[in-house]
Amino acid sequence: MTQITLPRPDDWHLHLRDGAMLRAVAPETARHFGRAIIMPNLVPPVTTGAEASAYRDRILAALPEGARFTPLMTLYLTEETDKDDLVQAHREGIITAVKLYPAGATTNSASGVRDFDKVRPVLEAMAENGVPLCVHGEVVDADVDIFDREAVFIDRVLDPIRRATPGLRVVMEHITTAQGVDYAREGGPDLGATITTHHLVINRNAILVGGIKPHYYCLPVAKREEHRLALRRAATSGDPSYFLGTDSAPHLDPLKENACGCAGCFTATNTLSILAEVFEQEGALDRLSAFASLNGPNFYGLPVNSDKVTLTKGDPVTYPAKIDTADGPVTVFDPMMPLHWRVE
Ligand code: DOR
Ligand code: ZN
Repeated sequence: MTQITLPRPDDWHLHLRDGAMLRAVAPETARHFGRAIIMPNLVPPVTTGAEASAYRDRILAALPEGARFTPLMTLYLTEETDKDDLVQAHREGIITAVKLYPAGATTNSASGVRDFDKVRPVLEAMAENGVPLCVHGEVVDADVDIFDREAVFIDRVLDPIRRATPGLRVVMEHITTAQGVDYAREGGPDLGATITTHHLVINRNAILVGGIKPHYYCLPVAKREEHRLALRRAATSGDPSYFLGTDSAPHLDPLKENACGCAGCFTATNTLSILAEVFEQEGALDRLSAFASLNGPNFYGLPVNSDKVTLTKGDPVTYPAKIDTADGPVTVFDPMMPLHWRVE
C-alpha cells in the first residue's frame, strides 16, 4: 500500500496552552486534525463554564484563517467544582468532558483532587447527565514507584470510583501499561482509553540510556518494552475501547532542558506520519482509521468527520526539529526512525 485515505482524524487529548504558545501550536494541530479535546491545566486552571467559553474563544482566535478545527473544551475538576455550573456548561455544549487530575500527579495539577470522596456528588451528577470523565490515572503516594503509579491507580482509585458510580463514562487518558490496556478492554461501553503517539514509539530506555533525554520525559512516564508492545497491540487491534489522544504537551526548550525539566512530548507536528509508520510496522494500516478517526467519535457520541485526509508513502519525510514561539523554541518529538508517510 502506498496511499491511505482516512476520515479526518481527531485528537482526544491535547494541550494547547495559552498566549504565545497557543498561537504557535494551534496551527500545528489544526493542519491535520478535525477536533481535539482540550486539556484545562492552564495556570490558573479552567474550572468554570465561563472560563471554558473564554478559552475556547482564544483558541478560535489563534487558528489560521480558514482552518476548520473544532476545540472540544473540558473543565478541570477540583474539590470545589460547582456541579450545576458543570452540568449547565455541558448542556449548552460549552464543554465536552471533565478532567480529573489527582493533585500533584503532573504539570499544573496542584488544584486537582486530593480526597476523591469530596468529588463524589459531582461524579454522580456527571453520570446522571452523561458527562464523560477524562482521568489522569496515576497515584501520587510517595511509597509507590513512579513506574507502578498507573497500575496502582486502577486498583486503588479508578475501579472503586467506577463501581461506586454506575453509568459514569470514563476515559483512561494516555494509558502506558499492559494493566491499563487490559482494564480498558474489559470495561464495557462506558470505558475508553486514549493512547499517545509517543508511547507507541518509545520505552523508558529513550529517556535514560546514553544520558538523560528530557524531550522523551512525559507523564505517565514511558514504561518497559513489554508495555509499549501491549500498547501497540491495543492501538492496532481496531478494538473500539482505544483511540488516539496525542497528549501533545509543548514546553519551551529551556524548561525541558533543565535540572527539573517539565513533563511532556510535543507531537502535534508529526503525529500522523509517525502513526502511519507504526501501523505499517504492525501490518495494520487498514486499522489506522479505527484508532485515529472512528473510535473516538464513537465513544463520545459525535459524528465521524465527513472530510478526509490522505497519506502517501515515499522518500523519508522530514519535519522541523523545533517550532518557534514568540517566547522561544519548542522541540518536536523525534521518533528516532525514518518516516515515509506524508500527509497530503
Ligand atoms: O507529560 C505530560 N505533560 N503529562 C501530563 O499529564 C501533563 C502534560 C503537560 O501539561 O505538560
Ligand atoms: Zn495531558
